[in-house]
Amino acid sequence: MEILKIENARKNFGGVKAVDGLSFSVQEGEILGIIGPNGAGKSTVFNLLCGLIPVDAGRIVFLGEDITLLAPHKRCHMGIGRTFQICQPFKELTVLGNVAVAAVFGHSKPVHPGKVKKYSEEVLAKVNLSSKKDLYPAQLTTPDLKLLEIARALATRPRLLLLDEMMAGLLPGECDKILDLIKGINREGITVILVEHVMRVVRELCQRVIVMNYGQKLCEGCYEDVTGDERVIEAYLGQEETVAQ
Ligand SMILES: Nc1ncnc2c1ncn2[C@@H]1O[C@H](COP(=O)(O)OP(=O)(O)OP(=O)(O)O)[C@@H](O)[C@H]1O
Ligand SMILES: [Mg+2]
Repeated sequence: MEILKIENARKNFGGVKAVDGLSFSVQEGEILGIIGPNGAGKSTVFNLLCGLIPVDAGRIVFLGEDITLLAPHKRCHMGIGRTFQICQPFKELTVLGNVAVAAVFGHSKPVHPGKVKKYSEEVLAKVNLSSKKDLYPAQLTTPDLKLLEIARALATRPRLLLLDEMMAGLLPGECDKILDLIKGINREGITVILVEHVMRVVRELCQRVIVMNYGQKLCEGCYEDVTGDERVIEAYLGQEETVAQ
């Protein structure tokens, strides 16, 4: 079943065509990767999908419903969860508090008030953050902040999870843990779109990859096909920073 479709989406920031006539669809249960050079428009696509910024043109359909004009919280209630490239916790709340907010406000049928604490603790156990539940975000390491970001998204009970550069700034061992976590989340039936620069992670997780460049889709296919494509090598993979990973 097609869970998401974006058709001919456009977003300009002044003279910058951040997203320029982009179309793709996502099947329920898959892990789709979006890769491309810095500034290609990947995070902007996530912002359009979750409703943080409106499209200038185009259409977004989720679970058969046109959500193009729907407010972000309503898209979240419908089952679109996301993480941010720069982690966005509530700094004045504990780790548990952050997850509880998502549990209460992130779904059309909120978790029963009497069960919020237990539910939030279960989500934290899933991402292996139980021992940090009473800490504040400022006390967390970078990998733990990423886990909190995932926990907050999971607490909203998404059907589609958008993960923006989860591996940035992590050591290879830390990447592996999050990689396994994403595999587990997907096995539970959650569809995933991930934006990622760490190619090893894209190779291990994604059945299909879309390559973006200048707001457009440069090509689409399995990992081997897109990474062997001359246009992708020229626009992206040839860059030193990517090869270094
Ligand atoms: N809110 C904004 N206001 C103005 N310009 C923006 C805004 N958001 C993104 N842009 C511009 O749109 C283009 C695409 O940005 P975007 O963040 O989507 O790229 P990206 O592919 O996620 O890059 P990266 O890999 O560096 O995260 C860039 O030129 C960026 O400077
Ligand atoms: Mg980005």
